[in-house]
Amino acid sequence: MKHLLKMLDLSTEEIIEILNLADQLKYELKHGIPHPHLKGKTLGMIFQKASTRTRVSFETGMYQLGGYPLFLSSNDLQIGRGEPVQDTARVLSRYLDGIMIRTFEQKEVEDLAQYGSIPIINGLTDFCHPCQVLADLMTIREFKGSFDGLKMCFIGDGNNMANSLIVGCLKVGMSVSIACPDDYQPPKEILDFAKTYGDKFEMTNSPMQAAKGADVLITDVWASMGQEGEAEKRKKAFAGYQINDELMAQANADAMVLHCLPAHREEEITEKVFEAHANEIFEEAENRLHAQKAVMVKLMAN
Ligand code: CP
Ligand code: NVA
Repeated sequence: MKHLLKMLDLSTEEIIEILNLADQLKYELKHGIPHPHLKGKTLGMIFQKASTRTRVSFETGMYQLGGYPLFLSSNDLQIGRGEPVQDTARVLSRYLDGIMIRTFEQKEVEDLAQYGSIPIINGLTDFCHPCQVLADLMTIREFKGSFDGLKMCFIGDGNNMANSLIVGCLKVGMSVSIACPDDYQPPKEILDFAKTYGDKFEMTNSPMQAAKGADVLITDVWASMGQEGEAEKRKKAFAGYQINDELMAQANADAMVLHCLPAHREEEITEKVFEAHANEIFEEAENRLHAQKAVMVKLMAN
């Protein structure tokens, strides 16, 4: 494993190794056991979109590992004025030991990896959000004990989160059911991958159908970063694609609810369901820290 660009690139074994290391690093942090695996290393963090969790968890995580994180806003980098990714990648590879990037196009992340010579970590693109889904898988295993026989149901937009969840959950052996409006389905690349899992994957436009017998229910915002101009149109398209009490009644009684955050209460999830599952959702947010530390150690430690 040289980079973390998308879940499609990871084998099941690599995912499980990351989750096991994440559990260990979480234990060490909670018990005050130092773990300076990245002493003297630097991580550049390029942000072309806003972030609370990704920025703070990477920055803190790098510090806890003994390394140094540099926050690089695209407003201040020459990349924001049109310097090609190919050149940025080759320059930054001379100074840094790794790069985390949050941007729009997946191609930009893939290009950084192709032209640079250091590990690249995808901190969210329009196509996928692998760091979030590694934290989600860590949280599911933490609460449920294992992935065996579990069904994950995603309700809403066939977006970056849906894409990474479909791939990640299928790879670790879960069944996946996704409910989205016809015009907001995941891209063909993801659906083609999912179809190779036969009846372990289901896509429908009925949230009630998708939620039946689910062990984990997950949703995300209806308008992602960059889609703010379509917010009103999307509110209409996604009416009914909400995690609420009626939907929860279809799921297993002990079903968990996850949300990558930020959440829009009374849109994709009701306040009541959100607060009833806040312990899971905020453990999920915390697990960003541990899962990403594991990714950095895997990619950047000698
Ligand atoms: N879930 C997530 O990636 O949050 P941020 O946008 O705050 O980083
Ligand atoms: N789908 C959301 C996820 C935010 C963490 C977005 O891209 O804005």
